Amino acid sequence: MKKSDQKTTTDAALFAATTTPDLGIPYGSCLLEDSPDPCMIVVIGASGDLTARKLMPALYNLYLKDALPDPFVIVGCSRSDFSDEGFREKMGVSLREKGAMDESKWESFASRLFYRSIQYDDPSSFSALARNLNELDMRYHTAGNRLFYLAIPPFLYETIARALGEAGLSAGTGENEPWSRVVVEKPFGSDLETAVALNRTLHSHFQEKQVFRIDHYLAKETVQNILMFRFANAVFEPVWNRTYIGSVSIISAETLGVEHRAGYYEQAGVLRDMFQNHMMQLLALIAMETPSRFEADQVRDEKVKVYRALRPFPVDNINDFIVLGQYGLGTIDNHEVPGYRDEPGVDPHSLTPTYAKMKVFIDNWRWQGVPFYLTSGKRLARKVTEISIQLKEVPHSMFRNVLGEHITANRLILGIYPDEKISLTFQTKNPGAKVCLRSVTMDFYYRQNYTGPVLDAYEKVLLDCMLGDHMLFWRQDGVELCWSFLTPILQSCESCANLPDMLRIYESGSWGPPSDADPTTEVAHS
Ligand code: BG6
Repeated sequence: MKKSDQKTTTDAALFAATTTPDLGIPYGSCLLEDSPDPCMIVVIGASGDLTARKLMPALYNLYLKDALPDPFVIVGCSRSDFSDEGFREKMGVSLREKGAMDESKWESFASRLFYRSIQYDDPSSFSALARNLNELDMRYHTAGNRLFYLAIPPFLYETIARALGEAGLSAGTGENEPWSRVVVEKPFGSDLETAVALNRTLHSHFQEKQVFRIDHYLAKETVQNILMFRFANAVFEPVWNRTYIGSVSIISAETLGVEHRAGYYEQAGVLRDMFQNHMMQLLALIAMETPSRFEADQVRDEKVKVYRALRPFPVDNINDFIVLGQYGLGTIDNHEVPGYRDEPGVDPHSLTPTYAKMKVFIDNWRWQGVPFYLTSGKRLARKVTEISIQLKEVPHSMFRNVLGEHITANRLILGIYPDEKISLTFQTKNPGAKVCLRSVTMDFYYRQNYTGPVLDAYEKVLLDCMLGDHMLFWRQDGVELCWSFLTPILQSCESCANLPDMLRIYESGSWGPPSDADPTTEVAHS
């Protein structure tokens, strides 16, 4: 091939590559990479809310998208008594209630649903389950692969992990033998000690690679996109450091209150419910160094380095670094809502925080001196999750004689919810004779030019568990490091002496405690 032809071909290839995204599906369909091995999905806690609201709809949707393994079997287990038929009917009813039931394939999907009643504290019940699963395996050729999803209250995790192990159901690493995997949802313990104990029990029966610790924030498309945005573009990484970035603000605000979860939330509060997991994941994705490959362990190694570099909280002057609040009476969407202490199941004198804002620092070269503000709360003015990267002002203004010294600095917003977007605010000249600057914003909407199918968070995590891909799951060391960071804060905040003074009551529908309580330089959200 002549050199000139070669160039034309390369140009043509480049042209195709750059124009393909406009056709709607960039670089081929991104929905499914591989199809999972035949397997059995065993849901422990199948009569509960999570199964009906999240897991079964996700599994059915995967089936409709032809994304479940072929063959597959789903076995629901819990203490309640159901026949296979009764369980199918219950699942059908709840899917129809959700209003998202596509009846066309329900009968064939339902024929793969089974139910086994088990007693959580009875080893013989698990031995019987093991025999049942073997029979189903033989009948449906699911190759001995099993995914155990623990859709049960966290205090039962250790009991069930032990029972599965003792019944021989945890054996199977997938290396030249069928695999057995276990899926757990947060909270992974309630402090460092309990998290270590939980990990120890899990590891007595399952190897780390068999364990999938879910964080549903990681399954959000816009959260996954943070890595692509940072590391697939040359333009942002050079400024992604202390030289150019003044502060980072990560907010996850909700309008919902505690709902029917007082039993859990009274013990957890916002620090355990949102910070130990989701907020720490967002922080790591923004702050981590570049992994050399897009592989689960390389990405998780880099996140862990961020957690290791977190500056320990100065518990002596904790009030300069954290604001805690609890929602009081107020108005959300024009409806009056009760304060936290008047919610069903909540202690009328409760000191549980429903809001926290903390200032954290990462002690490494990239981030030395840059404050990261993490905010999360319930019953706030608006449901919004976003990350705001505040760049520094220009080092010297050549316009100072006409405009004064101050020029508004650039800001980059990564919108996670409800706006799935990336916005960059920068300065331009205002049209007209007079020299005047104005801030303008360039927006990219995540779904722009994409019309293909998408997976919801539970569909994505279930699929990844079946594929054995750990990218979107917590690793043990990350969990423990985050608890190590938070436990002194929890201890200090929860000690009876400090908490009554620290906890500010805020009006429901506001943006949290009044700013006089706020030690941080506010970074406004969009
Ligand atoms: C959960 C918390 O993990 O995340 C809830 O337990 C919270 O209290 C929820 O409401 C928020 O998730 P999202 O996806 O609605 O921001």
